[in-house]
Amino acid sequence: MAQQFVIQSSAALQGQAHVYGAKNAALVSIASLILTQGKSRLHNVPFSDDIVCMMNLLVSLGASASYNAQEMILEVDTTALADWHVSPEIMRKMRASILVMGPLLVRFGKAVVAQPGGCDLGPRPIDYHLKNFLKMGVAITQDTHFIDAHVTRFTSARIVLEYPSVGATENLMMAAAGAYGVTTSIVNAALEPEVLNLIAILQKMGASITIHAPATIIIEGVAQLRPIEHTIIPDRLEAGSLLIAAAITGGTLHLPQAHAHEMDVFLLKLQEMGHTITVGSQGVGVSIQATKDPQAVSFKTGPYPSFPTDLQAPMMVAQCVANGTSIIEETVFENRLLHVRDLQKMGAAIRVEGTKAIIQGVPKLYGASVTATDIRASCALVLAGLIAQGATIVSGISHWRRGYYNLEEKLTRLGARIMVRETPQEMMLDSIEKQQGIVKLSC
Ligand code: UD1
Repeated sequence: MAQQFVIQSSAALQGQAHVYGAKNAALVSIASLILTQGKSRLHNVPFSDDIVCMMNLLVSLGASASYNAQEMILEVDTTALADWHVSPEIMRKMRASILVMGPLLVRFGKAVVAQPGGCDLGPRPIDYHLKNFLKMGVAITQDTHFIDAHVTRFTSARIVLEYPSVGATENLMMAAAGAYGVTTSIVNAALEPEVLNLIAILQKMGASITIHAPATIIIEGVAQLRPIEHTIIPDRLEAGSLLIAAAITGGTLHLPQAHAHEMDVFLLKLQEMGHTITVGSQGVGVSIQATKDPQAVSFKTGPYPSFPTDLQAPMMVAQCVANGTSIIEETVFENRLLHVRDLQKMGAAIRVEGTKAIIQGVPKLYGASVTATDIRASCALVLAGLIAQGATIVSGISHWRRGYYNLEEKLTRLGARIMVRETPQEMMLDSIEKQQGIVKLSC
Protein backbone atom coordinates (compact mmCIF):
# COMPACT_ATOMS: atom_id res chain seq x y z
CA MET A 1 0.00 0.00 0.00
CA ALA A 2 1.41 3.41 -0.92
CA GLN A 3 2.22 5.62 2.00
CA GLN A 4 3.71 9.02 2.71
CA PHE A 5 5.57 10.38 5.68
CA VAL A 6 4.43 13.67 7.14
CA ILE A 7 7.36 15.06 9.10
CA GLN A 8 7.34 18.04 11.44
CA SER A 9 10.30 19.98 12.73
CA SER A 10 11.61 17.91 15.63
CA ALA A 11 13.36 18.69 18.91
CA ALA A 12 16.91 17.50 19.55
CA LEU A 13 16.92 13.69 19.35
CA GLN A 14 17.92 12.12 22.65
CA GLY A 15 18.54 8.61 23.84
CA GLN A 16 19.76 5.24 22.70
CA ALA A 17 18.86 3.15 19.66
CA HIS A 18 19.39 -0.48 18.71
CA VAL A 19 21.16 -0.88 15.35
CA TYR A 20 19.86 -3.88 13.39
CA GLY A 21 21.79 -6.18 11.11
CA ALA A 22 23.05 -4.78 7.81
CA LYS A 23 20.50 -5.09 4.99
CA ASN A 24 23.18 -5.44 2.34
CA ALA A 25 25.05 -8.10 4.34
CA ALA A 26 21.83 -10.01 5.00
CA LEU A 27 20.81 -10.00 1.32
CA VAL A 28 23.94 -11.71 0.06
CA SER A 29 23.99 -14.01 3.09
CA ILE A 30 20.55 -15.31 2.16
CA ALA A 31 21.66 -15.78 -1.47
CA SER A 32 24.70 -17.75 -0.28
CA LEU A 33 22.46 -20.37 1.37
CA ILE A 34 21.72 -21.76 -2.10
CA LEU A 35 25.24 -23.22 -1.88
CA THR A 36 24.10 -25.50 0.94
CA GLN A 37 21.51 -28.22 1.41
CA GLY A 38 19.70 -28.09 4.73
CA LYS A 39 18.50 -25.64 7.36
CA SER A 40 20.47 -22.49 8.13
CA ARG A 41 19.72 -19.83 10.69
CA LEU A 42 20.60 -16.15 10.35
CA HIS A 43 20.35 -13.88 13.39
CA ASN A 44 19.94 -10.09 13.46
CA VAL A 45 18.14 -9.99 10.10
CA PRO A 46 16.26 -6.73 9.42
CA PHE A 47 12.97 -7.60 7.76
CA SER A 48 13.00 -4.78 5.22
CA ASP A 49 11.23 -5.26 1.89
CA ASP A 50 14.44 -6.18 0.04
CA ILE A 51 15.05 -8.99 2.53
CA VAL A 52 11.50 -10.24 2.02
CA CYS A 53 12.15 -10.14 -1.73
CA MET A 54 15.35 -12.22 -1.44
CA MET A 55 13.55 -14.67 0.87
CA ASN A 56 10.73 -14.97 -1.67
CA LEU A 57 13.26 -15.54 -4.43
CA LEU A 58 14.66 -18.58 -2.61
CA VAL A 59 11.14 -19.80 -1.86
CA SER A 60 10.24 -19.43 -5.57
CA LEU A 61 13.10 -21.86 -6.30
CA GLY A 62 11.78 -24.43 -3.83
CA ALA A 63 13.35 -23.46 -0.47
CA SER A 64 11.25 -22.94 2.64
CA ALA A 65 11.77 -19.98 4.94
CA SER A 66 10.37 -18.52 8.15
CA TYR A 67 11.08 -15.31 10.02
CA ASN A 68 10.77 -14.81 13.77
CA ALA A 69 10.16 -11.07 14.11
CA GLN A 70 10.65 -10.98 17.87
CA GLU A 71 14.08 -12.61 17.73
CA MET A 72 14.95 -11.27 14.24
CA ILE A 73 15.93 -14.79 13.16
CA LEU A 74 15.50 -16.01 9.60
CA GLU A 75 15.50 -19.78 9.05
CA VAL A 76 15.92 -21.07 5.54
CA ASP A 77 15.78 -24.71 4.51
CA THR A 78 17.32 -25.23 1.07
CA THR A 79 16.91 -29.02 0.95
CA ALA A 80 14.12 -28.93 -1.63
CA LEU A 81 15.50 -26.04 -3.69
CA ALA A 82 15.26 -27.43 -7.22
CA ASP A 83 14.92 -24.59 -9.72
CA TRP A 84 17.48 -22.23 -11.27
CA HIS A 85 15.16 -19.78 -13.07
CA VAL A 86 14.73 -16.37 -11.45
CA SER A 87 11.59 -14.64 -12.65
CA PRO A 88 11.70 -11.18 -14.26
CA GLU A 89 9.27 -9.90 -11.61
CA ILE A 90 11.74 -10.68 -8.83
CA MET A 91 14.77 -9.41 -10.77
CA ARG A 92 13.02 -6.12 -11.46
CA LYS A 93 12.02 -5.63 -7.86
CA MET A 94 15.59 -5.89 -6.68
CA ARG A 95 18.83 -5.74 -8.65
CA ALA A 96 20.66 -7.61 -5.87
CA SER A 97 18.84 -10.73 -7.16
CA ILE A 98 21.78 -11.10 -9.54
CA LEU A 99 23.71 -12.36 -6.48
CA VAL A 100 22.02 -15.76 -6.74
CA MET A 101 23.73 -16.44 -10.06
CA GLY A 102 27.03 -17.68 -8.59
CA PRO A 103 25.36 -19.96 -6.02
CA LEU A 104 22.93 -21.39 -8.64
CA LEU A 105 25.84 -22.19 -10.97
CA VAL A 106 27.50 -24.16 -8.18
CA ARG A 107 24.36 -25.98 -7.16
CA PHE A 108 22.90 -26.82 -10.59
CA GLY A 109 25.59 -25.91 -13.10
CA LYS A 110 22.90 -23.62 -14.52
CA ALA A 111 21.33 -20.24 -13.84
CA VAL A 112 18.71 -18.42 -15.86
CA VAL A 113 18.01 -14.91 -14.63
CA ALA A 114 16.18 -11.97 -16.15
CA GLN A 115 18.23 -8.94 -17.19
CA PRO A 116 18.23 -6.54 -14.25
CA GLY A 117 17.79 -3.38 -16.39
CA GLY A 118 18.73 0.17 -15.42
CA CYS A 119 17.79 2.16 -12.37
CA ASP A 120 17.73 5.63 -10.88
CA LEU A 121 21.41 5.55 -9.88
CA GLY A 122 22.50 5.21 -13.51
CA PRO A 123 22.96 2.26 -15.88
CA ARG A 124 24.33 -0.17 -13.20
CA PRO A 125 25.91 -2.71 -15.54
CA ILE A 126 26.73 -6.29 -14.48
CA ASP A 127 29.61 -6.74 -16.92
CA TYR A 128 32.16 -7.44 -14.15
CA HIS A 129 30.00 -10.34 -13.00
CA LEU A 130 29.45 -11.81 -16.46
CA LYS A 131 32.88 -11.46 -18.05
CA ASN A 132 34.53 -13.01 -15.02
CA PHE A 133 32.07 -15.91 -14.88
CA LEU A 134 33.20 -16.53 -18.46
CA LYS A 135 36.81 -16.57 -17.21
CA MET A 136 35.79 -19.22 -14.68
CA GLY A 137 34.54 -21.50 -17.46
CA VAL A 138 30.87 -20.50 -17.47
CA ALA A 139 29.11 -20.30 -20.85
CA ILE A 140 26.69 -17.41 -21.13
CA THR A 141 24.10 -16.50 -23.73
CA GLN A 142 21.88 -13.51 -23.34
CA ASP A 143 19.22 -11.50 -25.10
CA THR A 144 17.44 -8.33 -24.05
CA HIS A 145 15.33 -10.23 -21.52
CA PHE A 146 17.33 -13.14 -20.10
CA ILE A 147 20.83 -14.27 -19.15
CA ASP A 148 21.28 -18.01 -19.58
CA ALA A 149 24.43 -19.41 -17.96
CA HIS A 150 25.73 -22.94 -17.57
CA VAL A 151 28.96 -24.61 -16.54
CA THR A 152 30.14 -28.19 -16.80
CA ARG A 153 33.50 -27.70 -15.09
CA PHE A 154 34.73 -24.51 -13.47
CA THR A 155 38.30 -23.55 -14.38
CA SER A 156 40.94 -21.88 -12.22
CA ALA A 157 41.15 -18.15 -12.90
CA ARG A 158 43.01 -15.02 -11.88
CA ILE A 159 40.33 -12.37 -12.01
CA VAL A 160 41.28 -8.70 -12.02
CA LEU A 161 38.43 -6.32 -11.27
CA GLU A 162 38.98 -2.91 -12.83
CA TYR A 163 36.87 -1.46 -9.99
CA PRO A 164 36.30 -3.12 -6.59
CA SER A 165 32.63 -3.89 -7.19
CA VAL A 166 30.88 -5.21 -4.08
CA GLY A 167 28.33 -7.30 -5.97
CA ALA A 168 30.82 -8.76 -8.47
CA THR A 169 33.25 -9.71 -5.67
CA GLU A 170 30.44 -11.42 -3.77
CA ASN A 171 28.96 -13.24 -6.76
CA LEU A 172 32.31 -14.51 -8.07
CA MET A 173 33.48 -15.49 -4.61
CA MET A 174 30.36 -17.59 -3.97
CA ALA A 175 30.82 -19.41 -7.28
CA ALA A 176 34.52 -19.95 -6.54
CA ALA A 177 33.82 -21.29 -3.03
CA GLY A 178 31.88 -24.24 -4.44
CA ALA A 179 34.00 -24.78 -7.56
CA TYR A 180 35.60 -28.05 -6.45
CA GLY A 181 39.29 -28.49 -7.23
CA VAL A 182 39.64 -25.00 -8.67
CA THR A 183 41.60 -21.98 -7.40
CA THR A 184 40.24 -18.49 -8.02
CA SER A 185 42.01 -15.21 -7.22
CA ILE A 186 40.05 -11.96 -7.23
CA VAL A 187 42.46 -9.03 -7.53
CA ASN A 188 41.25 -5.52 -6.59
CA ALA A 189 38.38 -7.15 -4.72
CA ALA A 190 35.90 -5.13 -2.69
CA LEU A 191 36.57 -5.53 1.03
CA GLU A 192 33.51 -3.81 2.47
CA PRO A 193 32.39 -5.09 5.90
CA GLU A 194 29.48 -6.77 4.09
CA VAL A 195 31.97 -8.71 1.92
CA LEU A 196 33.90 -9.75 5.05
CA ASN A 197 30.63 -10.88 6.59
CA LEU A 198 30.06 -13.08 3.53
CA ILE A 199 33.59 -14.48 3.79
CA ALA A 200 32.90 -15.40 7.44
CA ILE A 201 29.70 -17.18 6.36
CA LEU A 202 31.41 -19.08 3.53
CA GLN A 203 34.21 -20.14 5.88
CA LYS A 204 31.62 -21.45 8.35
CA MET A 205 30.14 -23.44 5.46
CA GLY A 206 33.57 -25.01 4.97
CA ALA A 207 35.01 -22.80 2.22
CA SER A 208 38.71 -22.09 1.95
CA ILE A 209 39.20 -18.34 1.53
CA THR A 210 42.17 -16.10 2.34
CA ILE A 211 42.72 -12.37 1.91
CA HIS A 212 46.09 -11.03 0.75
CA ALA A 213 47.27 -7.41 0.87
CA PRO A 214 46.34 -5.07 -0.59
CA ALA A 215 43.02 -6.48 -1.86
CA THR A 216 43.23 -10.00 -3.30
CA ILE A 217 40.89 -12.79 -2.25
CA ILE A 218 42.05 -16.34 -2.96
CA ILE A 219 39.45 -19.09 -2.93
CA GLU A 220 40.12 -22.85 -3.13
CA GLY A 221 36.87 -24.49 -4.18
CA VAL A 222 35.58 -27.34 -2.02
CA ALA A 223 33.30 -30.29 -2.80
CA GLN A 224 30.55 -29.46 -0.36
CA LEU A 225 29.33 -26.51 1.69
CA ARG A 226 27.22 -27.07 4.78
CA PRO A 227 24.35 -25.11 6.38
CA ILE A 228 25.32 -22.52 8.98
CA GLU A 229 24.19 -20.38 11.88
CA HIS A 230 25.41 -16.79 11.70
CA THR A 231 24.78 -13.34 13.17
CA ILE A 232 24.68 -10.54 10.59
CA ILE A 233 26.97 -7.55 11.31
CA PRO A 234 25.33 -4.30 12.48
CA ASP A 235 24.22 -1.93 9.71
CA ARG A 236 26.79 0.85 9.42
CA LEU A 237 24.40 2.72 7.10
CA GLU A 238 21.50 2.65 9.55
CA ALA A 239 23.93 3.65 12.33
CA GLY A 240 25.26 6.50 10.19
CA SER A 241 21.77 7.75 9.42
CA LEU A 242 20.83 7.78 13.11
CA LEU A 243 24.03 9.67 13.99
CA ILE A 244 23.27 12.28 11.33
CA ALA A 245 19.71 12.62 12.67
CA ALA A 246 21.13 13.37 16.12
CA ALA A 247 23.77 15.72 14.67
CA ILE A 248 21.37 17.90 12.67
CA THR A 249 18.80 18.20 15.45
CA GLY A 250 21.49 19.13 18.00
CA GLY A 251 20.90 15.97 20.03
CA THR A 252 22.79 13.25 21.84
CA LEU A 253 22.58 9.59 20.90
CA HIS A 254 24.16 6.31 21.90
CA LEU A 255 24.30 3.29 19.57
CA PRO A 256 25.55 0.32 21.61
CA GLN A 257 25.78 -2.08 18.63
CA ALA A 258 27.48 0.22 16.10
CA HIS A 259 30.95 -0.82 14.93
CA ALA A 260 33.00 2.39 14.88
CA HIS A 261 35.87 0.84 12.94
CA GLU A 262 33.57 0.11 10.01
CA MET A 263 32.71 3.80 9.67
CA ASP A 264 36.00 5.58 10.35
CA VAL A 265 35.97 8.20 7.57
CA PHE A 266 32.32 9.01 8.18
CA LEU A 267 32.96 9.50 11.92
CA LEU A 268 36.02 11.61 11.11
CA LYS A 269 33.83 13.92 9.02
CA LEU A 270 31.27 14.26 11.84
CA GLN A 271 34.13 15.19 14.18
CA GLU A 272 35.49 17.72 11.71
CA MET A 273 32.04 19.31 11.72
CA GLY A 274 32.51 19.86 15.46
CA HIS A 275 30.41 17.00 16.83
CA THR A 276 31.78 14.99 19.74
CA ILE A 277 32.06 11.28 18.95
CA THR A 278 32.81 8.72 21.65
CA VAL A 279 33.68 5.14 20.81
CA GLY A 280 33.30 2.15 23.15
CA SER A 281 36.03 -0.34 23.95
CA GLN A 282 37.34 -2.26 20.93
CA GLY A 283 35.34 0.02 18.67
CA VAL A 284 31.93 -1.32 19.69
CA GLY A 285 29.35 1.35 20.57
CA VAL A 286 29.29 4.89 19.21
CA SER A 287 27.89 8.04 20.85
CA ILE A 288 27.43 11.51 19.48
CA GLN A 289 26.96 14.81 21.20
CA ALA A 290 26.05 17.37 18.57
CA THR A 291 27.69 20.78 18.39
CA LYS A 292 25.41 23.82 18.27
CA ASP A 293 27.74 25.38 15.68
CA PRO A 294 28.38 22.76 12.94
CA GLN A 295 31.02 23.58 10.33
CA ALA A 296 30.69 22.48 6.70
CA VAL A 297 33.02 19.68 5.58
CA SER A 298 33.85 18.36 2.13
CA PHE A 299 34.20 14.69 1.19
CA LYS A 300 34.39 12.29 -1.69
CA THR A 301 32.69 8.89 -1.78
CA GLY A 302 34.68 5.77 -2.64
CA PRO A 303 35.06 2.05 -2.04
CA TYR A 304 35.56 0.98 1.58
CA PRO A 305 37.23 2.26 3.72
CA SER A 306 36.51 5.62 2.03
CA PHE A 307 33.32 7.56 2.69
CA PRO A 308 30.41 5.23 1.74
CA THR A 309 28.27 6.31 -1.19
CA ASP A 310 25.22 5.08 0.73
CA LEU A 311 25.76 7.82 3.35
CA GLN A 312 26.39 10.58 0.80
CA ALA A 313 22.76 11.70 0.53
CA PRO A 314 22.04 11.67 4.30
CA MET A 315 25.33 13.48 5.04
CA MET A 316 24.48 16.12 2.44
CA VAL A 317 21.55 17.18 4.63
CA ALA A 318 23.98 17.95 7.46
CA GLN A 319 26.02 20.15 5.09
CA CYS A 320 22.89 22.03 3.94
CA VAL A 321 22.57 23.65 7.37
CA ALA A 322 26.25 23.83 8.41
CA ASN A 323 28.36 27.01 8.51
CA GLY A 324 30.30 27.52 5.30
CA THR A 325 30.65 25.76 1.97
CA SER A 326 31.19 22.09 1.32
CA ILE A 327 31.94 20.13 -1.81
CA ILE A 328 30.65 16.56 -2.04
CA GLU A 329 31.94 14.42 -4.87
CA GLU A 330 30.16 11.19 -5.79
CA THR A 331 32.62 8.84 -7.45
CA VAL A 332 30.87 5.44 -7.10
CA PHE A 333 27.62 5.92 -9.02
CA GLU A 334 27.28 8.30 -11.92
CA ASN A 335 23.75 9.45 -11.16
CA ARG A 336 23.50 9.63 -7.40
CA LEU A 337 22.65 13.27 -6.82
CA LEU A 338 18.93 13.07 -7.58
CA HIS A 339 18.04 14.05 -4.01
CA VAL A 340 19.59 17.49 -4.65
CA ARG A 341 16.49 18.64 -6.53
CA ASP A 342 14.24 17.91 -3.56
CA LEU A 343 16.65 19.42 -1.04
CA GLN A 344 16.71 22.57 -3.19
CA LYS A 345 12.93 22.57 -3.03
CA MET A 346 13.31 22.67 0.75
CA GLY A 347 15.53 25.75 0.58
CA ALA A 348 19.00 24.17 0.39
CA ALA A 349 21.60 26.15 -1.57
CA ILE A 350 23.18 23.45 -3.73
CA ARG A 351 24.80 23.70 -7.14
CA VAL A 352 25.61 20.56 -9.12
CA GLU A 353 28.66 20.45 -11.37
CA GLY A 354 28.99 17.00 -12.95
CA THR A 355 29.44 14.55 -10.10
CA LYS A 356 30.04 17.29 -7.52
CA ALA A 357 27.53 19.08 -5.34
CA ILE A 358 28.62 22.45 -3.98
CA ILE A 359 26.64 23.34 -0.91
CA GLN A 360 26.41 26.71 0.79
CA GLY A 361 25.04 26.24 4.29
CA VAL A 362 21.76 28.07 5.03
CA PRO A 363 20.21 28.84 8.43
CA LYS A 364 17.00 26.89 7.72
CA LEU A 365 15.27 24.36 5.50
CA TYR A 366 11.54 24.60 4.78
CA GLY A 367 8.92 21.88 4.60
CA ALA A 368 7.87 20.84 1.08
CA SER A 369 6.32 17.95 -0.79
CA VAL A 370 9.20 15.74 -1.97
CA THR A 371 9.64 12.33 -3.57
CA ALA A 372 12.34 9.76 -2.81
CA THR A 373 13.99 8.19 -5.85
CA ASP A 374 16.14 5.54 -4.14
CA ILE A 375 16.72 4.04 -0.70
CA ARG A 376 19.37 6.48 0.51
CA ALA A 377 17.61 9.51 -1.01
CA SER A 378 14.55 8.56 1.01
CA CYS A 379 16.68 8.71 4.15
CA ALA A 380 18.07 12.15 3.21
CA LEU A 381 14.57 13.55 2.72
CA VAL A 382 13.30 12.17 6.02
CA LEU A 383 16.30 13.68 7.82
CA ALA A 384 15.78 17.02 6.08
CA GLY A 385 12.16 16.96 7.24
CA LEU A 386 13.31 16.73 10.88
CA ILE A 387 14.96 20.17 10.67
CA ALA A 388 12.64 21.92 8.22
CA GLN A 389 10.27 24.64 9.26
CA GLY A 390 6.74 23.45 8.49
CA ALA A 391 5.54 20.03 7.36
CA THR A 392 7.55 17.92 4.92
CA ILE A 393 5.62 15.34 2.96
CA VAL A 394 7.81 12.52 1.65
CA SER A 395 6.44 10.25 -1.09
CA GLY A 396 8.25 7.26 -2.57
CA ILE A 397 8.30 5.55 0.82
CA SER A 398 8.54 2.15 -0.87
CA HIS A 399 12.29 2.90 -1.23
CA TRP A 400 12.58 3.56 2.51
CA ARG A 401 10.78 0.30 3.27
CA ARG A 402 13.15 -1.61 0.98
CA GLY A 403 16.20 -0.45 2.88
CA TYR A 404 15.22 0.24 6.47
CA TYR A 405 13.31 -1.83 8.99
CA ASN A 406 11.26 0.20 11.49
CA LEU A 407 13.70 3.10 11.30
CA GLU A 408 10.88 5.66 11.47
CA GLU A 409 9.79 4.08 14.76
CA LYS A 410 13.33 4.28 16.14
CA LEU A 411 13.57 7.95 15.16
CA THR A 412 10.15 8.64 16.69
CA ARG A 413 11.19 7.06 19.98
CA LEU A 414 14.18 9.43 20.04
CA GLY A 415 11.90 12.46 19.59
CA ALA A 416 11.36 12.75 15.83
CA ARG A 417 7.89 13.79 14.67
CA ILE A 418 7.12 11.42 11.80
CA MET A 419 3.61 10.38 10.89
CA VAL A 420 2.70 7.75 8.32
CA ARG A 421 -0.36 8.30 6.16
CA GLU A 422 -1.96 6.37 3.33
CA THR A 423 -2.02 8.09 -0.03
CA PRO A 424 -5.18 7.43 -2.02
CA GLN A 425 -3.85 9.08 -5.21
CA GLU A 426 -0.68 7.01 -5.24
CA MET A 427 -2.68 3.93 -4.37
CA MET A 428 -4.83 4.56 -7.44
CA LEU A 429 -1.78 5.17 -9.61
CA ASP A 430 -0.16 2.02 -8.27
CA SER A 431 -3.15 -0.13 -9.08
CA ILE A 432 -3.49 1.37 -12.59
CA GLU A 433 0.19 0.58 -13.23
CA LYS A 434 -0.28 -2.95 -11.95
CA GLN A 435 -3.35 -3.47 -14.16
CA GLN A 436 -1.38 -2.25 -17.15
CA GLY A 437 1.52 -4.50 -16.24
CA ILE A 438 3.89 -1.58 -15.66
CA VAL A 439 6.61 -2.59 -13.22
CA LYS A 440 8.86 0.12 -11.84
CA LEU A 441 12.52 -0.82 -11.86
CA SER A 442 14.28 -0.48 -8.59
CA CYS A 443 17.84 -0.91 -7.35
C1 UD1 B 1 26.42 -2.53 -3.39
C2 UD1 B 1 25.38 -2.14 -2.38
C3 UD1 B 1 25.00 -0.68 -2.54
C4 UD1 B 1 26.24 0.19 -2.49
C5 UD1 B 1 27.28 -0.30 -3.48
C6 UD1 B 1 28.61 0.45 -3.36
C7 UD1 B 1 24.17 -4.21 -2.05
C8 UD1 B 1 22.90 -4.96 -2.23
N1 UD1 B 1 24.21 -2.97 -2.56
O1 UD1 B 1 25.83 -2.36 -4.68
O2 UD1 B 1 24.10 -0.32 -1.48
O3 UD1 B 1 25.88 1.52 -2.81
O4 UD1 B 1 27.57 -1.68 -3.26
O5 UD1 B 1 29.11 0.37 -2.07
O6 UD1 B 1 25.08 -4.69 -1.42
N2 UD1 B 1 29.87 -1.68 -11.83
C9 UD1 B 1 30.11 -1.94 -13.17
N3 UD1 B 1 29.96 -3.22 -13.63
C10 UD1 B 1 29.58 -4.24 -12.81
C11 UD1 B 1 29.34 -3.96 -11.44
C12 UD1 B 1 29.48 -2.67 -10.97
O7 UD1 B 1 30.45 -1.04 -13.94
O8 UD1 B 1 29.47 -5.37 -13.28
C13 UD1 B 1 30.02 -0.29 -11.32
C14 UD1 B 1 28.66 0.27 -10.83
O9 UD1 B 1 27.92 0.80 -11.90
C15 UD1 B 1 29.12 1.32 -9.84
C16 UD1 B 1 30.39 0.68 -9.23
O10 UD1 B 1 30.82 -0.32 -10.15
O11 UD1 B 1 29.46 2.49 -10.52
C17 UD1 B 1 30.18 0.06 -7.87
O12 UD1 B 1 29.12 -0.85 -7.92
P1 UD1 B 1 29.05 -2.13 -6.97
O13 UD1 B 1 30.12 -2.02 -5.94
O14 UD1 B 1 28.99 -3.33 -7.80
O15 UD1 B 1 27.65 -1.90 -6.26
P2 UD1 B 1 26.54 -2.98 -5.97
O16 UD1 B 1 27.19 -4.28 -5.60
O17 UD1 B 1 25.55 -2.98 -7.07
